[in-house]
Amino acid sequence: MKPLQCPVTGKTHVPVDLFDPQFIANPYPTYARLREDSPVQRITLENDYPVWLVTRYDDVMALLKDDRVTKVPGKALPADGALPEMPFESIDAMAMLSNHMLMMDPPDHTRIRTLVHKAFTPRHTEQLRPRVQQIADELIDKIIDKGSMDLIDDFAFPLPLTVIAELLGIPIEHHEMFRKWSNLLTDGYTTAENLPQVQEATHGFIHYLQQIFTERRANPGNDLISALVAVEETGDRLSEQELLSMVFLLFLAGHETTVNLIGNGMLALLQHPAQLQLLREKPELIESAVEEMLRYDASVATSTVRFAMEDIAIGGVVIPRGEEIMLMTGAANHDEKKFDQPGVFDITRTDNRHISFGHGIHFCLGAPLARLEGAVAVSTLLRRLPDIKLAVAPETLIRRPSMLIRGVQQLPVVF
Ligand code: HEM
Repeated sequence: MKPLQCPVTGKTHVPVDLFDPQFIANPYPTYARLREDSPVQRITLENDYPVWLVTRYDDVMALLKDDRVTKVPGKALPADGALPEMPFESIDAMAMLSNHMLMMDPPDHTRIRTLVHKAFTPRHTEQLRPRVQQIADELIDKIIDKGSMDLIDDFAFPLPLTVIAELLGIPIEHHEMFRKWSNLLTDGYTTAENLPQVQEATHGFIHYLQQIFTERRANPGNDLISALVAVEETGDRLSEQELLSMVFLLFLAGHETTVNLIGNGMLALLQHPAQLQLLREKPELIESAVEEMLRYDASVATSTVRFAMEDIAIGGVVIPRGEEIMLMTGAANHDEKKFDQPGVFDITRTDNRHISFGHGIHFCLGAPLARLEGAVAVSTLLRRLPDIKLAVAPETLIRRPSMLIRGVQQLPVVF
């Protein structure tokens, strides 16, 4: 790639390749260089599609609060009125799943978020604790005599999947099918090569959910889908497409992210034996340990996206109206201007104001649930598997090739 010169610092630098396996393996040195040399950097993806990467904590926060940015690309038409061609193949069916709160501005955002917000409040979520604990213990029961497991497949994936599936009222017999679908729908961009598979996954998912809606209309249960189907039937607060998108978002966001909070968090602990020992000695540190896991190696780290509705001056450059902005929360969480020794994994860190759950009106709806699941998962692993260790060298672990999700594909451990 051709080196660019930053208009603010005057330094030249190679533009970041978000799909470079080396960057995916360890993005933190690149983040540090970006914060220092080119804190608001314009890169282009396929089709010359422009994206701005924002890496300093204060700039990311400022944009998360800025009402000149939108979630809806159509509201951010550039001066010539034409949106840049998207860098990925588009699928009509995908649009059916994209009409959700994460892609909306107020007032639609407020209308849709209000419908589910009560189910995810800290108080409501706390009532799930005994069930989350039971699921965690049952998963450990299954593997405890084996002496080894893939922590992702055997524990970190099924735990939040079971919780969100039960909350929504989705039977999870088809575990593997869900895994395939959700990996396909969250890993990377859709390209000409993987288009048929993504298409199949999207259609499969829609068809599956539609069957559940029909069944729940006939036999309502005590679950979130039944409640949402009832709202949809009253007509004016939730359209069928919004219902589909909402369940899709809750389902995907409800497990894809937490899997990697548990995976990345345990990996960090296992690589820092003194911190692991400290947590064993002082289990009451679990809440602050989870916050540090969220900051240190966040599972949603690159892609909190907005579009500029007007020219926005930030970090010494001007982001032109219409262009896409990626708020790099993973980079912001390691900003030395905000965090003391950000590269140090310290489960006793105080004033840990990471932005792994975002900020403002789109602040993660599931944050209380993710925190609860993370705390129960890690505490249970440490309590039930007192000798847990990595079974492979950390450098050999393969990261998921995703721009959105940060996590390892497998995490082999012995105990
Ligand atoms: C939004 C991260 C777990 C549901 C977000 C956002 C982030 C995030 C960064 C804001 C995105 C933006 O501003 O563009 C995470 C992380 C998690 C996690 C790191 C786990 C460690 C969950 C869970 C759920 C969930 C368990 C369960 C339902 C949502 C929803 C939104 C959201 C519905 C959209 C909120 C809105 O647009 O108003 N999440 N999330 N998340 N998250 Fe999470």
